Amino acid sequence: MKVGAQHYRSIWSTASPMAGQASPTVTIIDQTELPHTFVTRELATLADAARAISHMQVRGAPLIGITAAYGVALALAADASDANLDLACRTLVATRPTAVNLAWAVARVEKAVRPLPSPSRAAVAWAVASDLAEADVTQNDALGRHGLALLQALADQKSGPIHILTHCNAGWLAAVDWGTALAPIYQAHDAGLAIHVWVDETRPRSQGLLTSWELAAHSVPHTVIADNAGGHLMQTGQVDACIVGADRVAANGDVANKIGTYLKALAADDNGVPFYVSVPLPTFDWTLADGRGIDIEERDGSEVRRVRGKSAAGVLADLYVLPPERPVANPGFDVTPARLITGIITPHGTFAPSEISQVAALREAA
Ligand code: MRU
Repeated sequence: MKVGAQHYRSIWSTASPMAGQASPTVTIIDQTELPHTFVTRELATLADAARAISHMQVRGAPLIGITAAYGVALALAADASDANLDLACRTLVATRPTAVNLAWAVARVEKAVRPLPSPSRAAVAWAVASDLAEADVTQNDALGRHGLALLQALADQKSGPIHILTHCNAGWLAAVDWGTALAPIYQAHDAGLAIHVWVDETRPRSQGLLTSWELAAHSVPHTVIADNAGGHLMQTGQVDACIVGADRVAANGDVANKIGTYLKALAADDNGVPFYVSVPLPTFDWTLADGRGIDIEERDGSEVRRVRGKSAAGVLADLYVLPPERPVANPGFDVTPARLITGIITPHGTFAPSEISQVAALREAA
């Protein structure tokens, strides 16, 4: 997607060991600086990649998976021994627990390189990471097309713009390009549908501000709301559908996503608002029968104690809204039960949660 006049992805490689380059690097957009400042950073080592994920310079399930895949490649470019491969996989998988994309991507790279002699490992790891990045873009484009059909159907039923509520950031910043929940919104906007997005702020990390930044850059009409506003908007007929992303989808269609998603699904169910989850294939965890087995990340309480923003004088700063001794809790994700979900948008089409085993079958066939 575009930032100003220039097309960006959320991550890109700047050299490859295959090109004979001694010091390959990966470049990311530092999302801890957004929406205030657009800064890119180079990742040159395993430690850089692990830090970028755990400090949330990169975030969003698909993007942390791709960053971790490149992290293995960076580690192998420095030292392609079995011991360093073990260390890289262990370190990266430990950075964040909930999004299954991360462990999935690391496992994909590891499986490709483990049987190889050391000298060829880095180049193959790099190629696999690049392939996974390209596949993410292709799959998200497909999510956009299938989601667009749903939005078109909603638009056909009413006059005036359709109003979509989204939670967190599941846009191109959270993936490699397009995004997951936002892909249908971008494609609907590009197709000329009148669309307006309600953007949940998403405390404590305020990923909704990233969504607003993305939507503004693409000229998509939107309004940022406090996290507690969604129920009221649904009750008063101001939301036509909710679309969110996911960090892990269990085999029965239970969905883990950013904390607060469950409350939006409850309000949607109570008010007859369709609730869609848009996910690429690596977000499915077919090993889990239901959402009870999903590891919910508990993040540092300091995120609840502070907000980041600009003063009236334009100075960027953290403001502490609670004294340090006050107890806080910071669960990062929650699980929305399948029964509250109208449809799961996948690269193969949109399925009722009870039908998503068909997606596994299609994956096997492919
Ligand atoms: O903690 P984050 O910002 O990494 O959480 C991201 C989310 O929960 C997104 O909604 C989810 O990963 C889907 S992203 C395409």
